[in-house]
Amino acid sequence: MSQADSLQVFTPPADFVSQATISGMEAYRALCAEAEKDYAGFWARLAREHLSWKVPFTRVLDESNAPFFRWFDDGVLNVSYNCLDRNIEAGLGDKTAIIFESDDGSVSRISYRELLARVSRFANALKASGVRKGDRVVIYLPMSVEGVVAMQACARIGATHSVVFGGFSAQSLRDRINDAGAVFLITADGQCRGGKALPLKPIADEALAMGGCESIKKVVVWQRTGADCAMQAGRDVFWGDFVAGQSDVCEPEWVEAEHPLFLLYTSGSTGKPKGVQHSTGGYLLHAVLTMKWTFDLKPDDVFWCTADIGWVTGHTYIAYGPLACGGTQIVFEGVPTYPDAGRFWRMVQDHKASIFYTAPTAVRSLIKAAEATPTVHPRNYDLSSLRLLGSVGEPINPAAWMWFYENVGGSRCPIVDTFWQTETGGHMITPLPGVTPLVPGSCTLPFPGIQAAVVDETGTELDWGKGGILVVKRPWPAMIRTIWGDPERFKRSYYPDDFAGQLYLAGDGAMRDAQTGYFTITGRIDDVLNVSGHRMGTMEIESALVSHPLVAEAAVVGRPDDLTGEAICAFVVLKGVRPEGDAAKKVIKDLQDHVGKEIGPIAKPKDIRFGENLPKTRSGKIMRRLLRSLAKGEEVTQDTSTLENPAILDQLKRNVA
Ligand code: WT7
Repeated sequence: MSQADSLQVFTPPADFVSQATISGMEAYRALCAEAEKDYAGFWARLAREHLSWKVPFTRVLDESNAPFFRWFDDGVLNVSYNCLDRNIEAGLGDKTAIIFESDDGSVSRISYRELLARVSRFANALKASGVRKGDRVVIYLPMSVEGVVAMQACARIGATHSVVFGGFSAQSLRDRINDAGAVFLITADGQCRGGKALPLKPIADEALAMGGCESIKKVVVWQRTGADCAMQAGRDVFWGDFVAGQSDVCEPEWVEAEHPLFLLYTSGSTGKPKGVQHSTGGYLLHAVLTMKWTFDLKPDDVFWCTADIGWVTGHTYIAYGPLACGGTQIVFEGVPTYPDAGRFWRMVQDHKASIFYTAPTAVRSLIKAAEATPTVHPRNYDLSSLRLLGSVGEPINPAAWMWFYENVGGSRCPIVDTFWQTETGGHMITPLPGVTPLVPGSCTLPFPGIQAAVVDETGTELDWGKGGILVVKRPWPAMIRTIWGDPERFKRSYYPDDFAGQLYLAGDGAMRDAQTGYFTITGRIDDVLNVSGHRMGTMEIESALVSHPLVAEAAVVGRPDDLTGEAICAFVVLKGVRPEGDAAKKVIKDLQDHVGKEIGPIAKPKDIRFGENLPKTRSGKIMRRLLRSLAKGEEVTQDTSTLENPAILDQLKRNVA
């Protein structure tokens, strides 16, 4: 059966279509046809029209060293110039670039001119301390204007930033600094979330003390909470002292289009997070195009992406995309539930947000909150400024989609369900709001120029209606360039030999609707979990668990969760006797805290179960599909004949917590 038969279809409202940048299915088809006919010519045209080049490119796509593709590689530009200077030159100097709302509700506005001055001052300070083009700078900051300033300042001088999410632990921070060989760390004394001040600098200090961070020459500390923090003489400097006396004019460092703008670490199916390396020109092009086409951004819009700058969404749709288009955006420090779960709706109302981009897990938690406390229901707020909604990070279930559509969007705003990844740089499969009839739960059709397909294990494209493996058939400008320091892993992970190295492997399963060809993402096909839109490798969590002195062996799987999409479920074999009752509860708590310390609170397993062993085949392979059934609470119906120790299943069925 077709999705369209079982679910309502929402055609784009006529008044949206009439003003949309890409208006109507014909316009979309024409773009796709243009790309089909002359792939390089299509992207070249867009790169010339939408970006400002210091030196125009003459080469478009270089496939000679595939899969290490190069785009526009003899062109020269600067991302910060494209985001700031060129808007000011176009007369937008006094336009508000950022409306910043802090955790406690105070609001400040910063114009393009002020933002450029702050970025330039910080960029000059970095240069004066010896940071050079190509040096890596790790940014470990809370959501703030300073975070955006730090990223833009790196871009301005050609330093490659690597932002580490403020919820990651000292160990995770240390590993990222070490892998990137970073020379600078930019952090804050602490962060304010939900009315609480939480430490950051002490975590950074712990990371730096672990060893392996010897490349770090300086630590810049933004004073956010005013908490006392230890400052190491010669190494640590407060933000204010760092920029003191610096000029607010800084000539951009003009870099080649392939120059690495940033690294961003993300989880894969093996233990070590990988440093996804992004380019300058191709990346920025996709950020701009998706802002204009997926979000239909117009000069009067107030754009709000609720992501954190620690994730790729916060890179493309906070730090770069909105600014490169001269937009006005909201940057929010706090959490959706403080002081109450009406915070998002009150902010939309107060700042007259017109485009609101968030994650399904946030929508689901706010549905729950609105059901429990009617005063925080969106109906109590004036949300009439909204004209477009967006969803990202995980599949949005049709019920949450409908609630979002009706209660937040007033049944008037299209929802763009944007499928993409850290590696893709920007949206890959997404509705265009003035084009695509929407089906709740489907990310619909590829962005113009993106050649997505569903294939079988041999790489053969499947008929619509059949589930398979999601791939991209041609390189695109914003794609990952390599894994920092590990090109072999890049090839293995994304261009595996199974597909003769010809197809980009997303790592997700997908299915195209039999009638419409719409894509639905069916979830990861590797050992990667998606908890509240946060990506985590099962092996990463397993290594954290086995690093605890009590643990002999651990296997981690995901199970469906109504609120977080997936929940982490760990099966653990302890070195001593298997604990029961309160003793078990205590060990569970210890192990959860331990994982929180090793990786970060987002990686804490929700369920932990103990067994004397794990279900294994005779050759010693852990049978994860059985664990997945157990985690779900299903009866194990799979074939267990290859299982060495079937009795173990009974032990693992019980959830003591
Ligand atoms: C994985 C990528 C995209 C930026 C934030 C997450 C899942 C993402 C969707 C969507 C279904 C989605 C996929 C993907 N995912 N967006 N709209 N529908 N699934 O980036 O941390 O790199 O995670 O998130 O599984 O592979 P990420």
